Amino acid sequence: MEQLLQENRVFHPPADFIKGAAISGMDAYHQLCAEAETDYDGFWARLANEHIFWKKPFTTVLDESTAPFYKWFEDGLTNASYNCLDLNVEKGLGDKKAIIFEADDGTVSNVTYQDLLDRVSKMANALRKMGIQSGDRVIIYMSMSIEGVVAMQACARIGAIHSVVFGGFSAKSLQERIVDVGAVAVITADEQLRGGKALPLKVIVDEAIALGDCEKVKNVIVYQRTGGNIPMTAGRDSWMHEVVANESAVCEPEWVSAEHPLFILYTSGSTGKPKGVQHSTGGYLLWAILTMKWTFDIKHDDVFWCTADIGWVTGHSYITYGPLAVGATEIVFEGVPTFPNAGRFWDMIQKHKATIFYTAPTAIRSLIKASSNDVAVHPKSYDLSSLRLLGSVGEPINPEAWMWYYENVGGSRCPIADTFWQTETGGHMISPLPGATPMVPGSCTLPLPGIMAAIVDEVGHDVPNGHGGILVVKRPWPSMIRTIWNDPDRFVKSYFPEELGGTLYLAGDGAIRNKDNAYFTITGRIDDVLNVSGHRMGTMEIESCLVANPLVAEAAVVGRPDELTGEAICAFVVLKGGRPTGDEAKKLALDLRNWVGKEIGPIAKPKDIRFGDNLPKTRSGKIMRRLLRVIAKGEEVTQDTSTLENPAILDQLKQPL
Ligand code: PRX
Repeated sequence: MEQLLQENRVFHPPADFIKGAAISGMDAYHQLCAEAETDYDGFWARLANEHIFWKKPFTTVLDESTAPFYKWFEDGLTNASYNCLDLNVEKGLGDKKAIIFEADDGTVSNVTYQDLLDRVSKMANALRKMGIQSGDRVIIYMSMSIEGVVAMQACARIGAIHSVVFGGFSAKSLQERIVDVGAVAVITADEQLRGGKALPLKVIVDEAIALGDCEKVKNVIVYQRTGGNIPMTAGRDSWMHEVVANESAVCEPEWVSAEHPLFILYTSGSTGKPKGVQHSTGGYLLWAILTMKWTFDIKHDDVFWCTADIGWVTGHSYITYGPLAVGATEIVFEGVPTFPNAGRFWDMIQKHKATIFYTAPTAIRSLIKASSNDVAVHPKSYDLSSLRLLGSVGEPINPEAWMWYYENVGGSRCPIADTFWQTETGGHMISPLPGATPMVPGSCTLPLPGIMAAIVDEVGHDVPNGHGGILVVKRPWPSMIRTIWNDPDRFVKSYFPEELGGTLYLAGDGAIRNKDNAYFTITGRIDDVLNVSGHRMGTMEIESCLVANPLVAEAAVVGRPDELTGEAICAFVVLKGGRPTGDEAKKLALDLRNWVGKEIGPIAKPKDIRFGDNLPKTRSGKIMRRLLRVIAKGEEVTQDTSTLENPAILDQLKQPL
């Protein structure tokens, strides 16, 4: 174990993998990096011309005149849906399977590229008929389904900007997003099926709209998934199968500027309010395509499986856009990894002969645990020989989990792409290239060609390798966030802070580069953002939610390391009615967890809740979170507490319920 933690093992890509890879060997990698260094605009222009269909070619590459609101390929006209669907049909891939869909109950259905083009075109025509136009915003609140992908692609086809809200978010979270984005329509499903259970979707949309300020929503389109009994509001609600029934399967795409927003996706930041990350069409699509080719080395015969949900950026780039834009066959999975048992992923890889498998460390860790005393659900009980490449995303992968994944899932023959990136970056930023980069467990290794990642100190100066610092990107890249919807000031302040000089993109993560090989290791967020099971959660968001409860006077939320979920949420709460103890405390903690679940969504429920008469504060009234972090970890407080107004409070907060 000790040995693994020291990271001294290096795993080289297999020789036959290198031979056939898109970026074959480190020389090829260095050549691409050098091309970008020498002629940055020329590098990106070449790639954009080679990999994207332009209805009207661009004449400008990078426009920095309104930095940091960078523009890429702005006068070029294109359409994301055309690139993903029509182009593949025109290339003769009409009969190729685009999506293999496996439902929660194991039912499998396939769609070809021609089918998908027809379905997207019909849906796009239906949206147009409802009066939805280019630039309008459409909220998509659906579970994993072919229809979810169709809805996103249909929006892209007509230039409408989609904003997908993860199906686990509450009515209130949904309403806030509907209002902030100014949505004119919501696309949803009657219910979703997960782990054998039907969970509501449409009813939550109704609740969200009833919360108010959603007058702009003129249409709610409902995909009938379960046939469950749900209310429909006349004049506003319609069934997806009915609105597409008489539509033509031909739909002229809306040709948009490369800078036209493709989507807005909300994510957590350091303040209470989630931010609507706005992405472009051309630059975003270019990077989705290039990373499919470079990081995933996608080939014609691959069966690609990304287990993310379309509610997260991973599902956007590596389910809805990337795989389709490169004409791949991909698996879309409705269910959960543990139903009907924890062998579900391995069973599906075996059944569909998946060749590339991309999942999150949390899933890997929970499957390690589940299979440790049940051989029936252990990967070795399945034939996983179809796999040739593995991927990891969303949080740091600990070396033990990396080794288990490598040996047991990848049979010690599949490279692992540990892909570091973010909602804001649109696609992979730092990752091993499977046919080039020697891998070190737990390190995301080196930036992709063209990505000028670096580590700096608090004033933006480079730090030498071997020293920890702040992860930044020094040059704009095509798939970067364009702005925060409705809040350009917050965009500038969050990502291009003055303290760092105003030109460096601040990722929000700490990192360190290895002295010998300059490999990057991500050391975790440096702001008030937690990463729980690969999901980003703002501590302030949870705090504001807790204090909105009538019983709560004050709350502070911190993270603590958790073996399974990476980080766990711990809330320290002061109640208006005084500090509860015993069974009353247990009951109130449960009520508060459910409150957070209802207000934000189950993923935000604190794992631990502790009650105190007060919170540890400095004499000026500032909550000392660093002490709370120590307590949350169950460690002794060794720091100086002399500036605390009420040191005795620490003993109280140490006590578990
Ligand atoms: O802290 C980093 C972590 O996840 C954050 C981004 O979260 P989100 O925008 O939700 O996107 C997740 C999917 C791309 C980052 O700031 N993170 C993501 N990938 C890795 C990672 N941390 C370490 N290693 C990774 N491979």
